[in-house]
Amino acid sequence: MQLSPNRIEVMQFLAKNMDDIIDSYLTPVDKIWQPTDFLPDSSSENFFDDVKNLRETAKELPYDYLVVLIGDCITEEALPTYESWLMSVDGVNQEKNEGWSRWIRAWTAEENRHGDLLNKYLYLSGRINMRAMEVSTQYLIHDGFDIGTGSDPYRNFIYTSFQELATNVSHRRTATLAKEYGNKLLSKMCGVIASDELRHAKAYKSFVARILEVDPSEMMVALEDMMRKKIVMPALFLRETGIKMGETFSHFSDAAQRIGVYTTQDYIDIMEGLLEDWKIGNVPNLNAQGEKARDYVMALPARLQRIAERIKVPNLPYEFSWIGVKG
Ligand SMILES: [Fe+2]
Ligand SMILES: [Fe+2]
Repeated sequence: MQLSPNRIEVMQFLAKNMDDIIDSYLTPVDKIWQPTDFLPDSSSENFFDDVKNLRETAKELPYDYLVVLIGDCITEEALPTYESWLMSVDGVNQEKNEGWSRWIRAWTAEENRHGDLLNKYLYLSGRINMRAMEVSTQYLIHDGFDIGTGSDPYRNFIYTSFQELATNVSHRRTATLAKEYGNKLLSKMCGVIASDELRHAKAYKSFVARILEVDPSEMMVALEDMMRKKIVMPALFLRETGIKMGETFSHFSDAAQRIGVYTTQDYIDIMEGLLEDWKIGNVPNLNAQGEKARDYVMALPARLQRIAERIKVPNLPYEFSWIGVKG
């Protein structure tokens, strides 16, 4: 029987190409956009006029849409949790600024602009109870969250592949909707965030693809495990003052489904896309356990599809502390 290579060895093997990986999927700091490129310039004479315009167009944004934008902003701002969690993955050594820790720092630095941009936009929009939003952000970082990957790099890369794709979908949709509401500026903002997420998704997907070549059975088992647990979004752990854990997420998720920003169907589509991209149906050299794992994941999208067709999105009235009175 052929023994699987050790995960640390696999991580070291992949990290040999770190320069290429960073060059292919990330953009040099001096070339990439910054939040200020899209926001009113506070050092300009036109600042107050620009803010006035921004606030005018923000008046048109519907309640559900604002809820989604705020939830997206909060989950982006919980970045310290994602970074510290990735730094604790087996095969990452944060004492040395090389290999995987270099990737994680460079990735985090790109991600950090997302929450920053959305937060400043929402602040200037005048539509938000900023303090309540800030409380939820602090809660999310303070509480931490368990996404079921442990310190396993295989499970982590599956999670991040999925999550980057999910955020690409949701930011892309908020961009499209903003355009429909006549808000070109916001549409651009969400659009540039979405394109970052797509690059990141491509990176994480490529890590999984490489591991499938060198350690197929173990990667397949990790994939089955993550799919059985379901990929939970960090938004699941959103909290508002005085509200039971879980309730805020469920209303947030209903709002996202109602306006079509992120739906159960998207979850299934992302999963199917990943199975295709990774050519899961044709991965060679699997052991018996790997074969069993593959059978499970290959049958999953159709199973979820049958369940999804029975789910109806409720139209429950709920007032988020982040916005206040619905209207
Ligand atoms: Fe992001
Ligand atoms: Fe991301």
